[in-house]
Amino acid sequence: MELNKDIDQFDIQIAKRTYLNNPNSTLIKKLFIFSPFLFLILSVAALRFIRNVELKSLNNLKFQVERSHDARILGHLPYNETPKEKLVLIEPNIEVHIDMRDSLLKMREEAKKDGIYLVFLSGYRSINLQNDIFYSLKSIRNQEAAERARVSAPPGYSEHSTGFAIDIGDATQRETDFETDFENTDAFRWLIKNAAKFHFKLSFNKDNKYVDYEPWHWRYEGSIEALKVFESSNRKL
Ligand code: DAL
Ligand code: ZN
Repeated sequence: MELNKDIDQFDIQIAKRTYLNNPNSTLIKKLFIFSPFLFLILSVAALRFIRNVELKSLNNLKFQVERSHDARILGHLPYNETPKEKLVLIEPNIEVHIDMRDSLLKMREEAKKDGIYLVFLSGYRSINLQNDIFYSLKSIRNQEAAERARVSAPPGYSEHSTGFAIDIGDATQRETDFETDFENTDAFRWLIKNAAKFHFKLSFNKDNKYVDYEPWHWRYEGSIEALKVFESSNRKL
């Protein structure tokens, strides 16, 4: 009893718990509350990123496929046959597209003034005629299609069917007609220097991968219709 009395005399402190206001724990709480939203936002962002990467790869693939399948056959692009009403006769056996007649004749006149005599060898050719040229000559010469296509376009693939192509020779050196040697004539040298003034362009130069060099074959690009016809050919792929 004596002992209890002594104990009662001490003031026993009641244990107090104080919760410190820890800023880290508040942040964690907030993160915990907002984590579903954060997860959602990050997922949407990730999905968008993956989709963009996939779209880019798909576009690259599409571009590569277009490059390798641009409708060429043996290196020649397809061309429609020009309707008869757009053709005009410039020589007894040579028809051309009406858009290019004046420019072509003017070019010949200007060349003559410089002492150069251009001769027109071949203009518009129907798809039927191109068919005969491609298949008959190919079989006569015992050439496979790819070999023949280096010098002659398959039917439906010749610039001549558009009426905008013209084969030109030198009237003073007819032995060079349709020959690579035409490049050594005065007529060719004059054309290289002046043809662009009349909107003519050499179609098959020495860099062409599929078609042999044809210094005699020129095409007209001096009207919107002509530019549309040769758009694919001029587009750098
Ligand atoms: N000689 C050219 C390639 C043509 O036949 O159209
Ligand atoms: Zn030609």
